[in-house]
Amino acid sequence: MEDRKESELKSFCSRNILIILGFSSIIAVIALIAVGLTQNKPLPENVKYGIVLDAGSSHTSLYIYKWPAEKENDTGVVHQIEECKLKGPGISRYAQRLNEIDAYLTECMERASQVIPKSQHQGTPVYLGATAGMRLLRMENEQLADKVLSVVTKSLNNYHFDFHGARIITGQEEGAYGWITINYLLGKFTQKLSWLNLKPNGGNSQGTYGALDLGGASTQITFVPQNERIESPSNALHFRLYGKDYSVYTHSFLCYGKDQALRQKLAKDIQGTNGILRDPCFHPGYEIVMNVSELYSGPCTKRFEMTLPFDEFQIQGTGNYQQCHESILELFNTSYCPYSHCSFNGIFLPPLHGDFGAFSAYYYVMEFLNFTSEETPTQEKMIDSMEKFCSQPWKELKTYFGDVKEKYLSEYCFSGAYILSLLLNGYHFTADSWKNIHFMGKVIWVLAGLWADWVTEAALGLKEVGVSLLSLAWCPVLPFTCNPS
Ligand SMILES: *[C@@H]1O[C@H](CO)[C@@H](O)[C@H](O)[C@H]1NC(C)=O
Ligand SMILES: *[C@@H]1O[C@H](CO)[C@@H](O)[C@H](O)[C@H]1NC(C)=O
Ligand SMILES: *[C@@H]1O[C@H](CO)[C@@H](O)[C@H](O)[C@H]1NC(C)=O
Ligand SMILES: *[C@@H]1O[C@H](CO)[C@@H](O)[C@H](O)[C@H]1NC(C)=O
Repeated sequence: MEDRKESELKSFCSRNILIILGFSSIIAVIALIAVGLTQNKPLPENVKYGIVLDAGSSHTSLYIYKWPAEKENDTGVVHQIEECKLKGPGISRYAQRLNEIDAYLTECMERASQVIPKSQHQGTPVYLGATAGMRLLRMENEQLADKVLSVVTKSLNNYHFDFHGARIITGQEEGAYGWITINYLLGKFTQKLSWLNLKPNGGNSQGTYGALDLGGASTQITFVPQNERIESPSNALHFRLYGKDYSVYTHSFLCYGKDQALRQKLAKDIQGTNGILRDPCFHPGYEIVMNVSELYSGPCTKRFEMTLPFDEFQIQGTGNYQQCHESILELFNTSYCPYSHCSFNGIFLPPLHGDFGAFSAYYYVMEFLNFTSEETPTQEKMIDSMEKFCSQPWKELKTYFGDVKEKYLSEYCFSGAYILSLLLNGYHFTADSWKNIHFMGKVIWVLAGLWADWVTEAALGLKEVGVSLLSLAWCPVLPFTCNPS
């Protein structure tokens, strides 16, 4: 069992296989062209396009997908042909500058107009799905959130595409899409991709991977528990995929994405200071001034709000991983649990089971910290590296990583510590279950791209796992019964 997992992962991550696949796909393309030429048959031209705008809390990306118009047995071959990152922050930040939304969307929408043949524009559906950044804005000011969506809608209606609306997806949907995507990409639903692993793919490929997703404003955990009743109905998802039923546990923690978690921590820690916060989660020598009323704005920091004798405060980094970890732990209330097991804040969590893929910010942060190059390092090794990293003087770090944006660079110590705290203390991964966590990022989307070109199966078109915004409206092209409920 252990061997199987290991070799499965190795084959997934191994560059050699990617190279082999790269060659194989070149050969396949040559073969296809050869066949096309010799049989004098044109390659299939009848294709459709679709556009998805994934509106995250910190930025929006536009993805363009393509698939053959003739579906064989209702199985679409969807693949991503383009990603365009919109310049600017997440759409919720445009609440105070609605008149800039048009310009915000222009560049990537123009790109889509160029990429997709003009004759196809009218038949091309466009979906926009917004996540936790907009969920927070809606909690704070529903009218304003509606206004943002309606301005976005008005703007997107100006293009000659078939716009299907802009909406805020739920945390459950977000968890579900992440789980479906990662398991699809890992070939957990079918046996068809067994050649990818270059080994027999026996009946034991059925164990699905759990999905750990970390965004700026929220974080999701989704997995199939072992013979465990899902005690809280709001955490249960039921799917039927490829004729098999799945009962999946999911929870989305609003305000526990890495950006909002940092805001919570700061709002908690400035209580009882004189306006100078000596913060162990920032590097020694790092200093920044922040505005108290801005910190208190939005729903995530409300519980810490109090009248303070200063309007601004200064963070002074002290770079101490252990103290940072302890400060983060105060964000997780583990003192009560109305169920048999909880994560934190009284939220039901069944015992962890099986392997987990950790993606989006989990991956980007761990990649920067060099924790993704080989097998997931042990807890001790990570803690040891984090202690060294956080204690590095800011000045040295800035010189060394001159090409990394200062805001990002300054927050890796906190983000790394937050990830370890969330996984170990929030979700209760142990030294033993820790090795079942696999940080997955680029490798997966490289493979997804290869599948898309190669395997005549819907690759869901998702190159970037974790920003899976398959609207339910995509169900008709997906190779499975598709109704997350
Ligand atoms: C589609 O279904 C038909 C009839 O069930 C079957 O013969 C054919 O092989 C199927 N095609 C694919 C690509 O699965
Ligand atoms: C803090 O931010 C608020 C809201 O943006 C602004 O009105 C206020 O002037 C700022 N205070 C300081 C001291 O900069
Ligand atoms: C944890 O939550 C419980 C129940 O809501 C509350 O009584 C308790 O004060 C909280 N503890 C902390 C440290 O916030
Ligand atoms: C990660 O590894 C690279 C290459 O060895 C090194 O240059 C870089 O400093 C490391 N990053 C961190 C955060 O330690």
